[in-house]
Amino acid sequence: MNFKQALSEKTDIVNSYLTLLAPKNADERLLCAINYSLNAGGKRIRPILALSVCQMLGGDEKSVMHFACALEYIHTYSLMHDDLPCMDDDDLRRGVPACHIKFGEAMALLAGDALLNHAFEVISHAPVPAAMIVDALKVISTAGGVGGMIGGQARDLKGATALDDLISLHGLKTGAIISAAAKVGVIASGKKDETIQSAIASYAESLGIAFQIKDDILDVVGNEQEIGKRTGHDASSGKKTFVHFAGLKGAHDALEKYTKRAKSSLQMFGEKGNFLYSFADYLLGRDN
Ligand code: IPE
Ligand code: IPE
Ligand code: MG
Ligand code: MG
Ligand code: MG
Repeated sequence: MNFKQALSEKTDIVNSYLTLLAPKNADERLLCAINYSLNAGGKRIRPILALSVCQMLGGDEKSVMHFACALEYIHTYSLMHDDLPCMDDDDLRRGVPACHIKFGEAMALLAGDALLNHAFEVISHAPVPAAMIVDALKVISTAGGVGGMIGGQARDLKGATALDDLISLHGLKTGAIISAAAKVGVIASGKKDETIQSAIASYAESLGIAFQIKDDILDVVGNEQEIGKRTGHDASSGKKTFVHFAGLKGAHDALEKYTKRAKSSLQMFGEKGNFLYSFADYLLGRDN
């Protein structure tokens, strides 16, 4: 199976679990808002990463999918809140009007809150030993919290002061959840080997930085139709992105550097690491 086929197969698996495990039996309009944002699309890279790491290490799909979906629910909530007028004030997301444009700010706020809580409910009934659930809870709550994504978003409000500050900010606001995806993949596989854990952690750390650099680049050179969100918004709102500090060429160079670093962390896995290797290249080359 080539990379594209494997990616498409994994995306299908992720989408079917996301639907299976999504919130049900709630206020009708709240459910509409949640499903609207969840089902608008999205590349699903975090759950795909969790699944792929787990599979590479010999784990099975069922063990990882509750953790993987929890991360996509958290990611989707972070986008709903990120788009609010009090944050980035964006009106287009995943190719459709942002949640607050369609359902109003109050409902977008609640739908995001609901997805965050739902993520932990889903983790709590993962079909794995309780010790694994506790490990995953620790990883995911830390990554989504003050020392991870939320902390990064708070620093993003202030803006970075220099390139190294921005790289650490990127590592938090975007990298933390991506790293958590890789870590829960390891947890669900049952592998406790520290060399494996640290190779995967270093892969994901570089991938996370590369991912946000590419996001910053796409805001400048991307096509609105293709990326499904507004372009040029970072510059017009005065956001100091990677392109602001390093220029487009500098950003491209850094993207290549972090992608290369991610791929080199996979050496110990040999051919089993092929999907994750190509995944890093796919994220580098993505148009959306
Ligand atoms: C966008 O994430 C926000 C960032 C963290 C850069 P994605 O580019 O993964 O967005 P979706 O999930 O595909 O919509
Ligand atoms: C957002 O970064 C990262 C999150 C934690 C949501 P951006 O603000 O650059 O993401 P986009 O460009 O709106 O998707
Ligand atoms: Mg933002
Ligand atoms: Mg934004
Ligand atoms: Mg962006």
